[in-house]
This record gives sequence, C-alpha cells and structure tokens, in this order.
Amino acid sequence: MARKYSTESWTFGILFVSFLFGPAAGVHHMSMKLEPRQDGGSVPLSIANWCSETIYPGILTQAGTGPSTTGFELEKGNNKTLSVSSSWQGRVWGRTNCSFNDQGQASTGVKACSTGDCGGALQCKIAGEVPVTLAEFTLNQAASQDFYDISLVDGYNIPLAIVMLANGNSRLQNLSQSTTNPSCVGSIGNLSPTNFDPYKNGQQFLGTSGSDPLPFENKNSQFTVSNWCPWDLQVSPPTAPGDGVYPYPDGNVQRPAFDPCYSACAKYNTDAYCCKNSYDGVGKCHSNYYSTAAKSICPDAYSFAYDDQDSTFIVPTGGGFEIIFCPGGRSTTIIKSKGSSAISHGGSPSGSLQLLNDGITYTLALSCTVGFLLWELLAF
Ligand SMILES: *[C@@H]1O[C@H](CO)[C@@H](O)[C@H](O)[C@H]1NC(C)=O
Ligand SMILES: *[C@@H]1O[C@H](CO)[C@@H](O)[C@H](O)[C@H]1NC(C)=O
Ligand SMILES: *[C@@H]1O[C@H](CO)[C@@H](O)[C@H](O)[C@H]1NC(C)=O
Repeated sequence: MARKYSTESWTFGILFVSFLFGPAAGVHHMSMKLEPRQDGGSVPLSIANWCSETIYPGILTQAGTGPSTTGFELEKGNNKTLSVSSSWQGRVWGRTNCSFNDQGQASTGVKACSTGDCGGALQCKIAGEVPVTLAEFTLNQAASQDFYDISLVDGYNIPLAIVMLANGNSRLQNLSQSTTNPSCVGSIGNLSPTNFDPYKNGQQFLGTSGSDPLPFENKNSQFTVSNWCPWDLQVSPPTAPGDGVYPYPDGNVQRPAFDPCYSACAKYNTDAYCCKNSYDGVGKCHSNYYSTAAKSICPDAYSFAYDDQDSTFIVPTGGGFEIIFCPGGRSTTIIKSKGSSAISHGGSPSGSLQLLNDGITYTLALSCTVGFLLWELLAF
C-alpha cells in the first residue's frame, strides 16, 4: 500500500519475487514509511471463513508485533480472534485446498496449497504465492491513524471483506460504518443477485445495518463476475479450441467457478505494469488491462501500485479489524458512492508525514524461488 506516503524518513520496502511452477513471476514493490512510535497494546484481528470449504489464512508481519500464529486451519463457518500490537503492519490472505502433514509442512512436494501457499509451511514466514487477495494493514501511523485496504495488486484468489471493529471506542462508533467496511467479491461462488438487500427484517451485514447501508455494486452479472480475469492472466484457463496454439479470448468459454487471477504485474513483471523504474511515481504509472478489470469487479480494492488515492481506508486508531473470507453479497462501491474523501475520515497521511525525518531507510528484499530462499536486510 501507500507508495505516495513514502518519504525520506523510514521507508520500509518489501520486494518479493516468486518464481512459480507456471510461467508466472511476480514482483510487487511496496513502500510505506513507518513512524517510530511506542508499540504495544493489543489490537483485535479477527478472521472469519464464510467460504464453503476450509481455508488456511496466512499472516505476514512487516512491522510491529504480529499475532501468536501466522497460519492455521479455519473450517467453514468458523472464525478466530488474534491480536497484534498497536503499530502492527502486515497482511492477511487466504490459502485454498491445502494439505499439511503433522509437522505442518506440505504433505507432498514443496507446495501445500493450490493458492496462497507460503513455501509449503502451515505457519507462514514468507508472503503468499501470487495470486492472492490481500487485506493490508498499517496501524497507528501519523496522527494516530490506521490504514487498511483490500489489495488485488498481486492478483486475486478468493473474495474478502474488511470490517472495522469499533471495539468500544466512541470515536469509531460515531463513524458511518458504511464508509469503513469494504468488500470484494470477484468470484461467483456466493455472489448474490443484483438486487441484493442484506438488511431485510432488521438484519445486519458486515457490521452495517439498514439505517446506514453499505452501497453495493449492482451492474455486474454472474457472467461478468466469472469472466473478468483477462484470458492470459487466469491461473487455470479452461481448455478451449486453439488451446496451446493461440490464446483463445472467447468470453463464451465456460470458466471454472473458482478462477484465481494473476495481476499483469505478477505475471509479466514489466516496469509499466509494476510501476517500477521510469514508471515509479504518482502520475507515471497508470491503470492497465488487469487493474481496470479488477476495479470494475471490486471498485473498493487497490488494483495497481499507485491506486492509493482510491483505495486506502483511514480511521482513527483504537479499534480492531475483522477479515471475512467469502463474505457473499456483492462488492461494495463505497468510494464511488460516497467520494474518496469519505474513506479517510478526516485523516490524511500527507501533511503529518513531512514531520517525520529520521533518515533511516530499511529495505527488505525477500526473494523466494521454489526450494530456494533468500532473505536480505539492508539498513542505511
Ligand atoms: C464468529 O463465531 C461466532 C461463534 O460461532 C459467531 O457468533 C460470530 O458471528 C462469528 N463471526 C463472524 C464474523 O463470522
Ligand atoms: C479444491 O479442490 C477441489 C477438488 O480438486 C476443487 O473442486 C475445488 O474447487 C478447489 N477449491 C479451491 C478453493 O481451490
Ligand atoms: C459521538 O457522538 C455522540 C452523539 O452525537 C457525541 O455526543 C459524542 O461526543 C461523540 N463522540 C466522539 C468521541 O466523537
């Protein structure tokens, strides 16, 4: 998240390169300055599985103190509440179709999961293999703000929603909950019809009620939601006439209900798609065919490296967060419906960040190949 927030102060960059079994290699470069700040406390981080099958959430901590576990089995319908420190920075993703042995390693081969795998380990020490839908958090930054987003920058595997938990904090309780809880439903598994109304009979949905309803995307159909992933970026394109000879970008070919999608950056690793080198900067990097498609399906998700303005949620610190996999319903359109300023709740990273200037830059480069791991920490 948040390239635009990086300053000459603390820059924490994580760069990871994954060479996959397929032709894909992903590079995602994120920079986020970290304000030196007292790190303690306990922020609830709850993870729920509303998918129709067991998933294995993975958690990677980039700063602060992470939760007691970095990967676990979560059966359908279950949830688990963890806690992280008040200045935690990290990400959460879902792993699908995993198989571990008693030692918490891949039962066979080097991969344990069909998506989101972290080196075959139950307890993740590295980021999930692309493509994965990410919930990203940077807590307790400038002016005591929490930043979070749903990111499709590294691709998409399963639907995900983030619910801000007020946690008894009146300042957070006073926020309109319909501006704090984004959801991205990019597969048809539990997609609801366009007239989706979760608030009948006084019911609640993703922490909101009918008196302050979430705005939902209402144009995409089952067809467009199952076909948004560009043909060349599907992890498992269906076999079709011409397969193996020509790409076959025919929208009428039936795609699988579960259709993970690489981002163009994750698959092709070009400067333009990954906002690197001469494309590295606000106004230098633009939406591409993948991010445009991703944004049309998940309007509140972050779709390429300089998409911050339209995708980072900011709330005052003091609450907690719930990550819900396969929330059902439909993607939210909070930013489009309420304006991009509505999701920052008066907060802004820009002004206060200029005050931070301790001249320390950390670069964490994490390169991961199958069977080979390189971890490098450079401090200047
Ligand atoms: C978590 O589990 C509890 C107990 O089963 C349930 O009451 C609650 O609704 C669940 N929360 C979510 C977000 O799934
Ligand atoms: C898991 O594997 C089964 C059987 O191969 C498949 O039907 C299912 O779609 C997979 N689910 C996910 C989420 O990968
Ligand atoms: C929350 O809203 C109530 C009612 O409008 C108000 O009295 C209270 O001061 C607000 N609290 C905060 C912390 O803003």
